[in-house]
Amino acid sequence: MSALLADARLSVDKRHSGGGYSGFSLPPALDRNLLNMDGAEHSRMRRLAAPAFSRRSAESLRTTVSGISAATFRTLDENACGTVDLLERICVPVPALVIGELLGVPADRYGELRAAATAMVTFDAASKESATRLAGAVTWLAETFTNVVQSKRSEPGDDLISGWVRARDDADILSEDELVSLAFLMMLAGLENAVHLCGNIFAALLTSKDPLGDWSTRRRKITEAANPLPFAIRRFAVENMTIGDHTIPEGDTVLLSLFGADSDPWRDGRPSLMFGRGPHYCLGAQVTDLIVDAVVPELFVRYPHVRLAVPESELEYRSSWRAHGLVTLPVTLAC
Ligand code: HEM
Repeated sequence: MSALLADARLSVDKRHSGGGYSGFSLPPALDRNLLNMDGAEHSRMRRLAAPAFSRRSAESLRTTVSGISAATFRTLDENACGTVDLLERICVPVPALVIGELLGVPADRYGELRAAATAMVTFDAASKESATRLAGAVTWLAETFTNVVQSKRSEPGDDLISGWVRARDDADILSEDELVSLAFLMMLAGLENAVHLCGNIFAALLTSKDPLGDWSTRRRKITEAANPLPFAIRRFAVENMTIGDHTIPEGDTVLLSLFGADSDPWRDGRPSLMFGRGPHYCLGAQVTDLIVDAVVPELFVRYPHVRLAVPESELEYRSSWRAHGLVTLPVTLAC
C-alpha cells in the first residue's frame, strides 16, 4: 500500500479517469486543490502551504494550539455541573480556531462553514433534498472562499491566505481558482477530520473502563481506531499496470483502503497509513497530533469524573460517505 501511494502510475487527477468512480464533482474554484493534482503542478502548490504546517514550525504551532485549547476549555467551567456537548464545545472549536487562525478565515464564519461541510459529507444521492442542500453548500463555499481571498487583497494580514494572495498577485505562482481551492481544502479538512478524530477518541475513552489511563502508551492504538476516514481514497491508473496478480487497465479507478491496511492482522509493526504516504501525505498530520495531545489529556485532568451523559448505545453517528463521526457527544463534566 505504501508503495502504491507513491506510485506515479496512480494519479489523483480526474482527467485520467476512464469513466468509473471519480469522486466529487466541484466547481473549479473548489476543485483545483492539492488532492486533484499530480507532479510538478502539485509540488508547486504544496510548497506554498507546507512550511506553515511542517515540523520546523512545530513550536509556534504548539503554542497556538495549546493557547486555543486552554481558552476553549475555560468556557466549559460555567457548565461544569450540567450536561455539555463535547463535540460542539471542544472538538469543533479547537481545530476550527487553530486552522482558521493560521489561514486567516474569520471566526464568525465557522458555524456556516461547518454546516456547508456537513451538507457535503452527508450527501445522499438517493435524496432530492440532500442534492439541493449540497448544491447550495457548494455555491456558498465557492462564493465565501472567493470573498475571503478578495478581502485579503484589501486588508492583508499575517496569515497563510494573505501570503498566497501575494504569491498570486506579485509572482503569478498560482491561479485564482488554485488559490481559492487551497484555502477551501485546508479549512474544510481542519473542520471535518480533526473534529471527528477528537470526538471519536473521546467516545472511545469515555466508554472504556479506564478512561484516560496512560495516554502516551494507549495513544497510538486508540487514535488509529478512531480514524474518521475509514473509506478508501481514489486513484486512476495512467497506464496499464499490474498490482500483485491483478491487471489494471489504464483509466480504471483504484481504491486504496488506508484504514484496511492499518487494520490488517498481518500488519506486523508497519507504520500507520492514517495520514497517507508519499507526495500527498497529509499536510495537517502534525497539527492534528498537536490538537489531539492538547485536548484529550486536558479533559480528564480538568474533569477527572467526566462521564457520558447517555448510554453508549444512544451515541448517534452521522450517516456520511466520507467521515465517521458523531452528531453530538453529551457528557457530564463534574457533578
Ligand atoms: C484526523 C485527521 C486527518 C486525517 C486522518 C487525514 C488524512 C489525510 C490523508 C489520508 C491524506 C492523503 C489523501 C491522498 O493521498 O489522497 C490527507 C491529505 C491532506 N490533508 Fe489530511 N487528514 C487529517 C487532518 C487534516 C487537517 C486538520 C488538515 C488541515 C490543516 C489536513 C489537510 C490535508 C491536505 C491539504 C491534504 C492534501 C495534501 C496533498 O495532496 O499534498 N488534513 N489527509
